[in-house]
This record gives sequence, C-alpha cells and structure tokens, in this order.
Amino acid sequence: MKFIVTTPQSIDSVNETMAEFMSDSGLEYIPRRSSSLAKLAAEHGAEGVIVWETEGPILYVENEKLFFHPSMAKVRIAEYRKKGREDLLIQACQLNKGDSFLDCTLGMGADSIVASYFSETGKITGLEYQSEVAHVISWGMKLYQGNMPWLNKAIKRVEIINSDHKKFLCQQGDQSYDIVYFDPMFTKPLLRSQPISPLRKLANHDALNKDTIQEACRVARKRVVLKTLLAGLEIERLGFQKIMGSKHNPITYGVIITD
Ligand SMILES: C[S@@+](CC[C@H](N)C(=O)[O-])C[C@H]1O[C@@H](n2cnc3c(N)ncnc32)[C@H](O)[C@@H]1O
Repeated sequence: MKFIVTTPQSIDSVNETMAEFMSDSGLEYIPRRSSSLAKLAAEHGAEGVIVWETEGPILYVENEKLFFHPSMAKVRIAEYRKKGREDLLIQACQLNKGDSFLDCTLGMGADSIVASYFSETGKITGLEYQSEVAHVISWGMKLYQGNMPWLNKAIKRVEIINSDHKKFLCQQGDQSYDIVYFDPMFTKPLLRSQPISPLRKLANHDALNKDTIQEACRVARKRVVLKTLLAGLEIERLGFQKIMGSKHNPITYGVIITD
C-alpha cells in the first residue's frame, strides 16, 4: 500500500516536527496546495494519506481515519484509580512495579500504556509490524499532551519499534524482558455491526506460530501472555495455560510461566 504525507488545507509548509516525522517514516511529502485528500491520493497513486496536524498525524484510508488517542487506556487506568478495580491484563501478566514489558503487537498502544502505568519504572517496548501504524501511533504518543500527568507519563514511557516481533525476539538476549505479551488480530471483529476499523484494514493478520512462542519463552524472565477470543483455541494450539475467560467475557488470557 502506498502512503503519502501532506499538511492540512490551510498550511503549505513543513515545520520542524513534521520534517522529523518525514525522515523517521521515510514517506514522501506532497504539498497540499488546497487539494482534497482524494484528489491528492489519486494524482500520486496512493491508497492512504497521512495529514500532519498540530496534535499529531492522522492517517486516512478508504474514508476511515486512524490516529493516536488514549481513551481506552485512560478508562482502564481510571477504573483502577477510582474504584481499585485491577485491569485484567495486569492480573494475567502479574505485572509488578519495575517490571519490563515487551508488547509484541502494539496496535493502538492501549495495552502498552496500561502496562506502562502499572510498571511505573520498568522498560516498556511496543512492536508494530505495519510501518504507517507504527509511525502514526508513535508520533501521536510523542506529541500527546493531555491534562492528566499520570496518563502523559505512562504514554511517554512507551518506546515503539516498527518491527516484526519474530525478528525482534530472535535478536534479544535470554530473559531480557520480564513479560512478553501478544494480542494478535482476531479473525472476526467482536461485533458484526462494527465497521471495519482502519487498524483491521492495515494490520498484519498472520496467526502466531510455535517458533515465535518458543523465542518469547526464551526472552521472558517471568511469563509470556496471550490474549485471545472465545474458546481460546489458540491458547491450546500454542501451548498456553488458560487462566481467564468465562461464558460472559469473550476475552481469554493464556500464560506460560517461565521463571
Ligand atoms: C489486535 S491489535 C493489538 C491491539 C493492542 N493490544 C492495543 O491495545 O491497541 C494487533 C496488532 O499487532 C500487529 N502485529 C501482528 N503481527 C505482528 C508481528 N509479527 N509483529 C509486530 N506486530 C504485529 C498488527 O499489525 C496489529 O496492529
């Protein structure tokens, strides 16, 4: 898929931050010259356009847009802060203060941010295969400035790397992260009525394989955690032990304890 980068219609110059984004992402800049995004995309044979807004990049693909927003992570952390309700991911990972966390499937980054909040000081790394998603989320996080310091801090601590987790894991030393986590794409959206989100359109949908899990077990000091759906067939196929999930909650977690 080809992507181009441009400015909002009212601006026709590249500022310093946008120039950094261009060099980081390696994407082509096309001056806006008041064109519509559809026209610009058609003229340059692009399937997607990234518009550099002051608050961060917005990716447009097939009339849908993708940009960083911390809403899901914020709701989950707020549940804990207000009601003391522990997040299921944190329970499944048994994540403690200071733990390092390797998120092998970053997506919109909600799980990484939640892990970052609870870890407080441990290293948090998020890997994303799809290059434009990785860059849009990474720069959206860099530029995000909300009015809740605890959320800002959790977001800024996430280091995002555009990489295939299979490759990345092979390059890591034994026991180099406390927790290694996977949340692969579900084969079907949770609700039939849900529109196909831009993330679903762009994401890598490959199933996990046993070699990847074996590498994850080598890299994880404490545990490897997998989030999946329904009967948790993936959990059995990949050798995890099912630890959470019920008739009422379609989300299931599996773990492999490595310590
Ligand atoms: C279900 S989403 C993850 C959602 C995420 N947990 C969140 O909180 O937003 C899965 C993401 O993993 C990415 N992915 C799939 N296979 C990957 C791989 N081999 N390496 C890195 N990322 C991968 C997909 O592109 C997609 O963005």
